[in-house]
Amino acid sequence: MTQDILIEPVSDTVANTSLAAKKVFIKTYGCQMNVYDSGRMSDALGQEGYTQTDNVEDADLVLLNTCHIREKAAEKVYSALGRLREMKKERQAQGREFTIGVAGCVAQAEGEEITRREPAVDVVVGPQTYHRLPQALKRVRNGERVVDTDYAVEDKFEHLPQAPKPKLVIRQVTAFLTVQEGCDKFCTFCVVPYTRGSEVSRPVEQIVAEAENLVSNGVRELTLLGQNVNAWRAKGPGGKTWGLGELLYRLAEIPGLARLRYTTSHPRDMDDRLIEAHRDLRMLMPYLHLPVQSGSDRILKAMNRRHKASEYVALIERIREMRPDIALSGDFIVGFPGETDADFEATMELVRTVGYAQAYSFKYSTRPGTPGADLPDHVAEEVKTERLARLQELLLQQQKQFAEACVGKEIDLLLEKPGRNAGQLIGRSPWLQSVNVDAKTSQIGDIIRVRITSTGSNSLFAEMAES
Ligand code: SAH
Ligand code: SF4
Ligand code: F3S
Repeated sequence: MTQDILIEPVSDTVANTSLAAKKVFIKTYGCQMNVYDSGRMSDALGQEGYTQTDNVEDADLVLLNTCHIREKAAEKVYSALGRLREMKKERQAQGREFTIGVAGCVAQAEGEEITRREPAVDVVVGPQTYHRLPQALKRVRNGERVVDTDYAVEDKFEHLPQAPKPKLVIRQVTAFLTVQEGCDKFCTFCVVPYTRGSEVSRPVEQIVAEAENLVSNGVRELTLLGQNVNAWRAKGPGGKTWGLGELLYRLAEIPGLARLRYTTSHPRDMDDRLIEAHRDLRMLMPYLHLPVQSGSDRILKAMNRRHKASEYVALIERIREMRPDIALSGDFIVGFPGETDADFEATMELVRTVGYAQAYSFKYSTRPGTPGADLPDHVAEEVKTERLARLQELLLQQQKQFAEACVGKEIDLLLEKPGRNAGQLIGRSPWLQSVNVDAKTSQIGDIIRVRITSTGSNSLFAEMAES
């Protein structure tokens, strides 16, 4: 139904006076890819005269960029929509316009069902169709309700504007850059292959151009994003196929760029070149998010992760040999169908063996339509709760140990934004920790040498190092 929409050429000017001064409020749920997408939607709407607001009360358009990964995430969207419906009624009573849009993974998974469940919704766009949002909004103004979740025949990136020069006084020092989307892995618990579609890699030139634009806007640290970022593959100059490692070597040549990161990786796609990049590129930060989900081979098999626990541990050892200061982060699921006490203990054992600087852990959430939903022996909620508490206690202990081991160390700190107290800034350590230090606002974007002096609950404190 949506292929007939004309794609208008992107114009350079902030045109369309009829829309001038309209405000959009965007609420982002879920992963960093949604954060990136929200930024791109904001850029696209910016070209139509919209400015972004942090206050929903001021908004003419509210966009929920949604996540479908666990049941709770999807439920949140409907309760938010209920509140927005009430706001819309009030606005309409005042004769004011109020448009409600749903984007992201719930939009993709549920499509028209959203407008059936919540008729106040005016527009639904998926992760592959949000570049058509300006056209969809025009149709909404003509009284239509638009559901546009058909996978686009065109490449959305070709139709999105480059991020404009920031108007803010405080420059944005770090940025996400999506290089790969979708997933072909089909882990049996996961909705991503259904909401984001199959794996697609963006071409090298497109990525380099976007990176250069961001750097010219003042960005110093880039995080390359993908649901399976290390499955990124594309033709490099000369026709040779590049993997993510090669791409990182290329991006490292961009003048002015100081730091590179990437997320999220699958253990099966950590190839030699990528591991070598960790050895060779100082600007590739020594921090790796490498989810394993479980430490039990039986459960890993049922999850279709396609590797054994011992292979994961051996991989980590190889990476640590190449880059001894690397810190590890991971994702874990407890209570996958059929998980016994012994399986769970194997996960605890793996965590003890690896030692994580940071981690995310979740109770298994049944997702209709995934193979996991049909498996026998679902685990009781109380058992999941108890296992999650034990796992999180261990992970938190490791996280604290890692932070405490940093005290006394001299590190490079990328200064990002004002801190809580005047005269303080917050920076990022190479290991992604937030660090508070006395510094001037004019230093935002600088990398300074500091010594870590103490740890706080979620951040570290530092002072300028002598050297
Ligand atoms: N592509 C990444 C993960 C993307 S989803 C990878 O393969 O590692 C982010 C995390 O959400 C997953 O790593 C997993 O730990 C968690 N997750 C995904 N589906 C889930 C489910 N049905 N229940 C609970 N946690 C889930
Ligand atoms: Fe989901 Fe597995 Fe794909 Fe990660 S690799 S997005 S967990 S299906
Ligand atoms: Fe959620 Fe979609 Fe990301 S389901 S985790 S927003 S890819």
